[in-house]
Amino acid sequence: MTATFKYIHHACFTVTAGGETLICDPFLDGNPEGITMKDLKVDYIFITHAHGDHLGCAYELAKQCHALIITTAEIAAQAQEKGCEAHAMHLGGTFRFPFGKVRVTPAFHGSGIAGGHACGFIINFHGTAFYFAGDTALYSDMQLLRSLDPFRYALLPIGGNFTMDPHDAAKAACFLKAPVVIPIHYNTWPVITQDPAAFKKEVEAKMPETKVVIVQPGGTMEWD
Ligand code: NI
Ligand code: MN
Repeated sequence: MTATFKYIHHACFTVTAGGETLICDPFLDGNPEGITMKDLKVDYIFITHAHGDHLGCAYELAKQCHALIITTAEIAAQAQEKGCEAHAMHLGGTFRFPFGKVRVTPAFHGSGIAGGHACGFIINFHGTAFYFAGDTALYSDMQLLRSLDPFRYALLPIGGNFTMDPHDAAKAACFLKAPVVIPIHYNTWPVITQDPAAFKKEVEAKMPETKVVIVQPGGTMEWD
């Protein structure tokens, strides 16, 4: 089964497979193609934490599309209060949805909501599995993740300041050993300006079995 990855910008992207589409962290403000909520038709919305550059238009989009929100318990409760359908999970939790298995991974970052915790996800979407780290610091338990639930693609923040910078993200790539790494969460604002080509060079020098693919905002990539 193949899937189409579309990078909207920042930490926001869609994956389409098996006739369904998921979106992660639907923050659309300032995306280069000017994609608005009305342009989107999604079935699932994953939210890693409630900072504005991740929560984005999630609740409005969920209602527009009758999409299911999948997120941590605190955000899920807020989504339900706002009239959305939401499936609450939490760190270390796994669940088999009709499209495949989801694992919630730790992310060392603020939650943006009282009592919450930031997260990442390992998502198997109709047979294509990927790891979306969310906003996180580097942590050594990343080396366990692929042994828990295998994935081919890893989406890692490289912007620095709020998350891992390119050097820390290169270390994360060494821990993860994913065949394909895609850098995200950089160059949205001056404070997270980074050179993804330098990141690619560093990772591929350290990890010959890992390929870094730089997908420009607005760009797409076919996934196996
Ligand atoms: Ni954040
Ligand atoms: Mn962020």
